Amino acid sequence: MDVFTAISGRRSCRKFHPEAVSDAEIEKILEAGNWAPSPANQQPWEFIVITNTGIKERIFSESEVCKKKLFERSGWKWLEKFPLDFVKDAPVIIVVAGDPKKSGADMFLDEGAGRGYLEGCSAAVQNMMLAAHALGLGSLWFSLYEAGVVRQILSMDAGKEPVALLCIGKPVSTGATKRKDFREKTTYLR
Ligand SMILES: Cc1cc2nc3c(=O)[nH]c(=O)nc-3n(C[C@H](O)[C@H](O)[C@H](O)COP(=O)(O)O)c2cc1C
Repeated sequence: MDVFTAISGRRSCRKFHPEAVSDAEIEKILEAGNWAPSPANQQPWEFIVITNTGIKERIFSESEVCKKKLFERSGWKWLEKFPLDFVKDAPVIIVVAGDPKKSGADMFLDEGAGRGYLEGCSAAVQNMMLAAHALGLGSLWFSLYEAGVVRQILSMDAGKEPVALLCIGKPVSTGATKRKDFREKTTYLR
């Protein structure tokens, strides 16, 4: 699959087949993430690969708690009803854990200092989603969790940030979102 087809064909997946993802596929996805660009090539990511059912269920129930809290704070009705079953149903969740110390020279900026590690980790996540799609797998970038709770469930180092939980598996169905025309969002300064 060429890169343009992968980019335009990838859609978030929220319904997964229970079939396991092979180790070879997981490694291909990890390798794709690892080739992402990052500030000063600091490679601010680490990956935690979760296939353990008990751990996925703990993350799922804590995400339900988080969702309830966010609904109460926001009043957003869609949030209350938003099912999160994909968190426990996905055969694998890859946690992209970022190291805030690996932000490159942006740590010394006056504005937006220290966000470089998030940007590098985000590039890794996108690479991984495209790789999963190219392998015929679905993926979802999941973010409805409190970092401290995820750190505790996974016994993560306090200095590391769970930037994204990437749910991956064979898709039963995927979303069908559209995009605005990029021309509406582009300014050329010639
Ligand atoms: C940083 C980030 C966080 C996201 N968090 C969630 C999430 O917690 N739950 C969810 O269902 N989708 C989440 N998404 C997926 C978006 O809803 C999705 O990418 C968007 O609606 C566009 O749809 P598409 O990915 O199918 O093109 C997240 C995406 C990004 C980039």
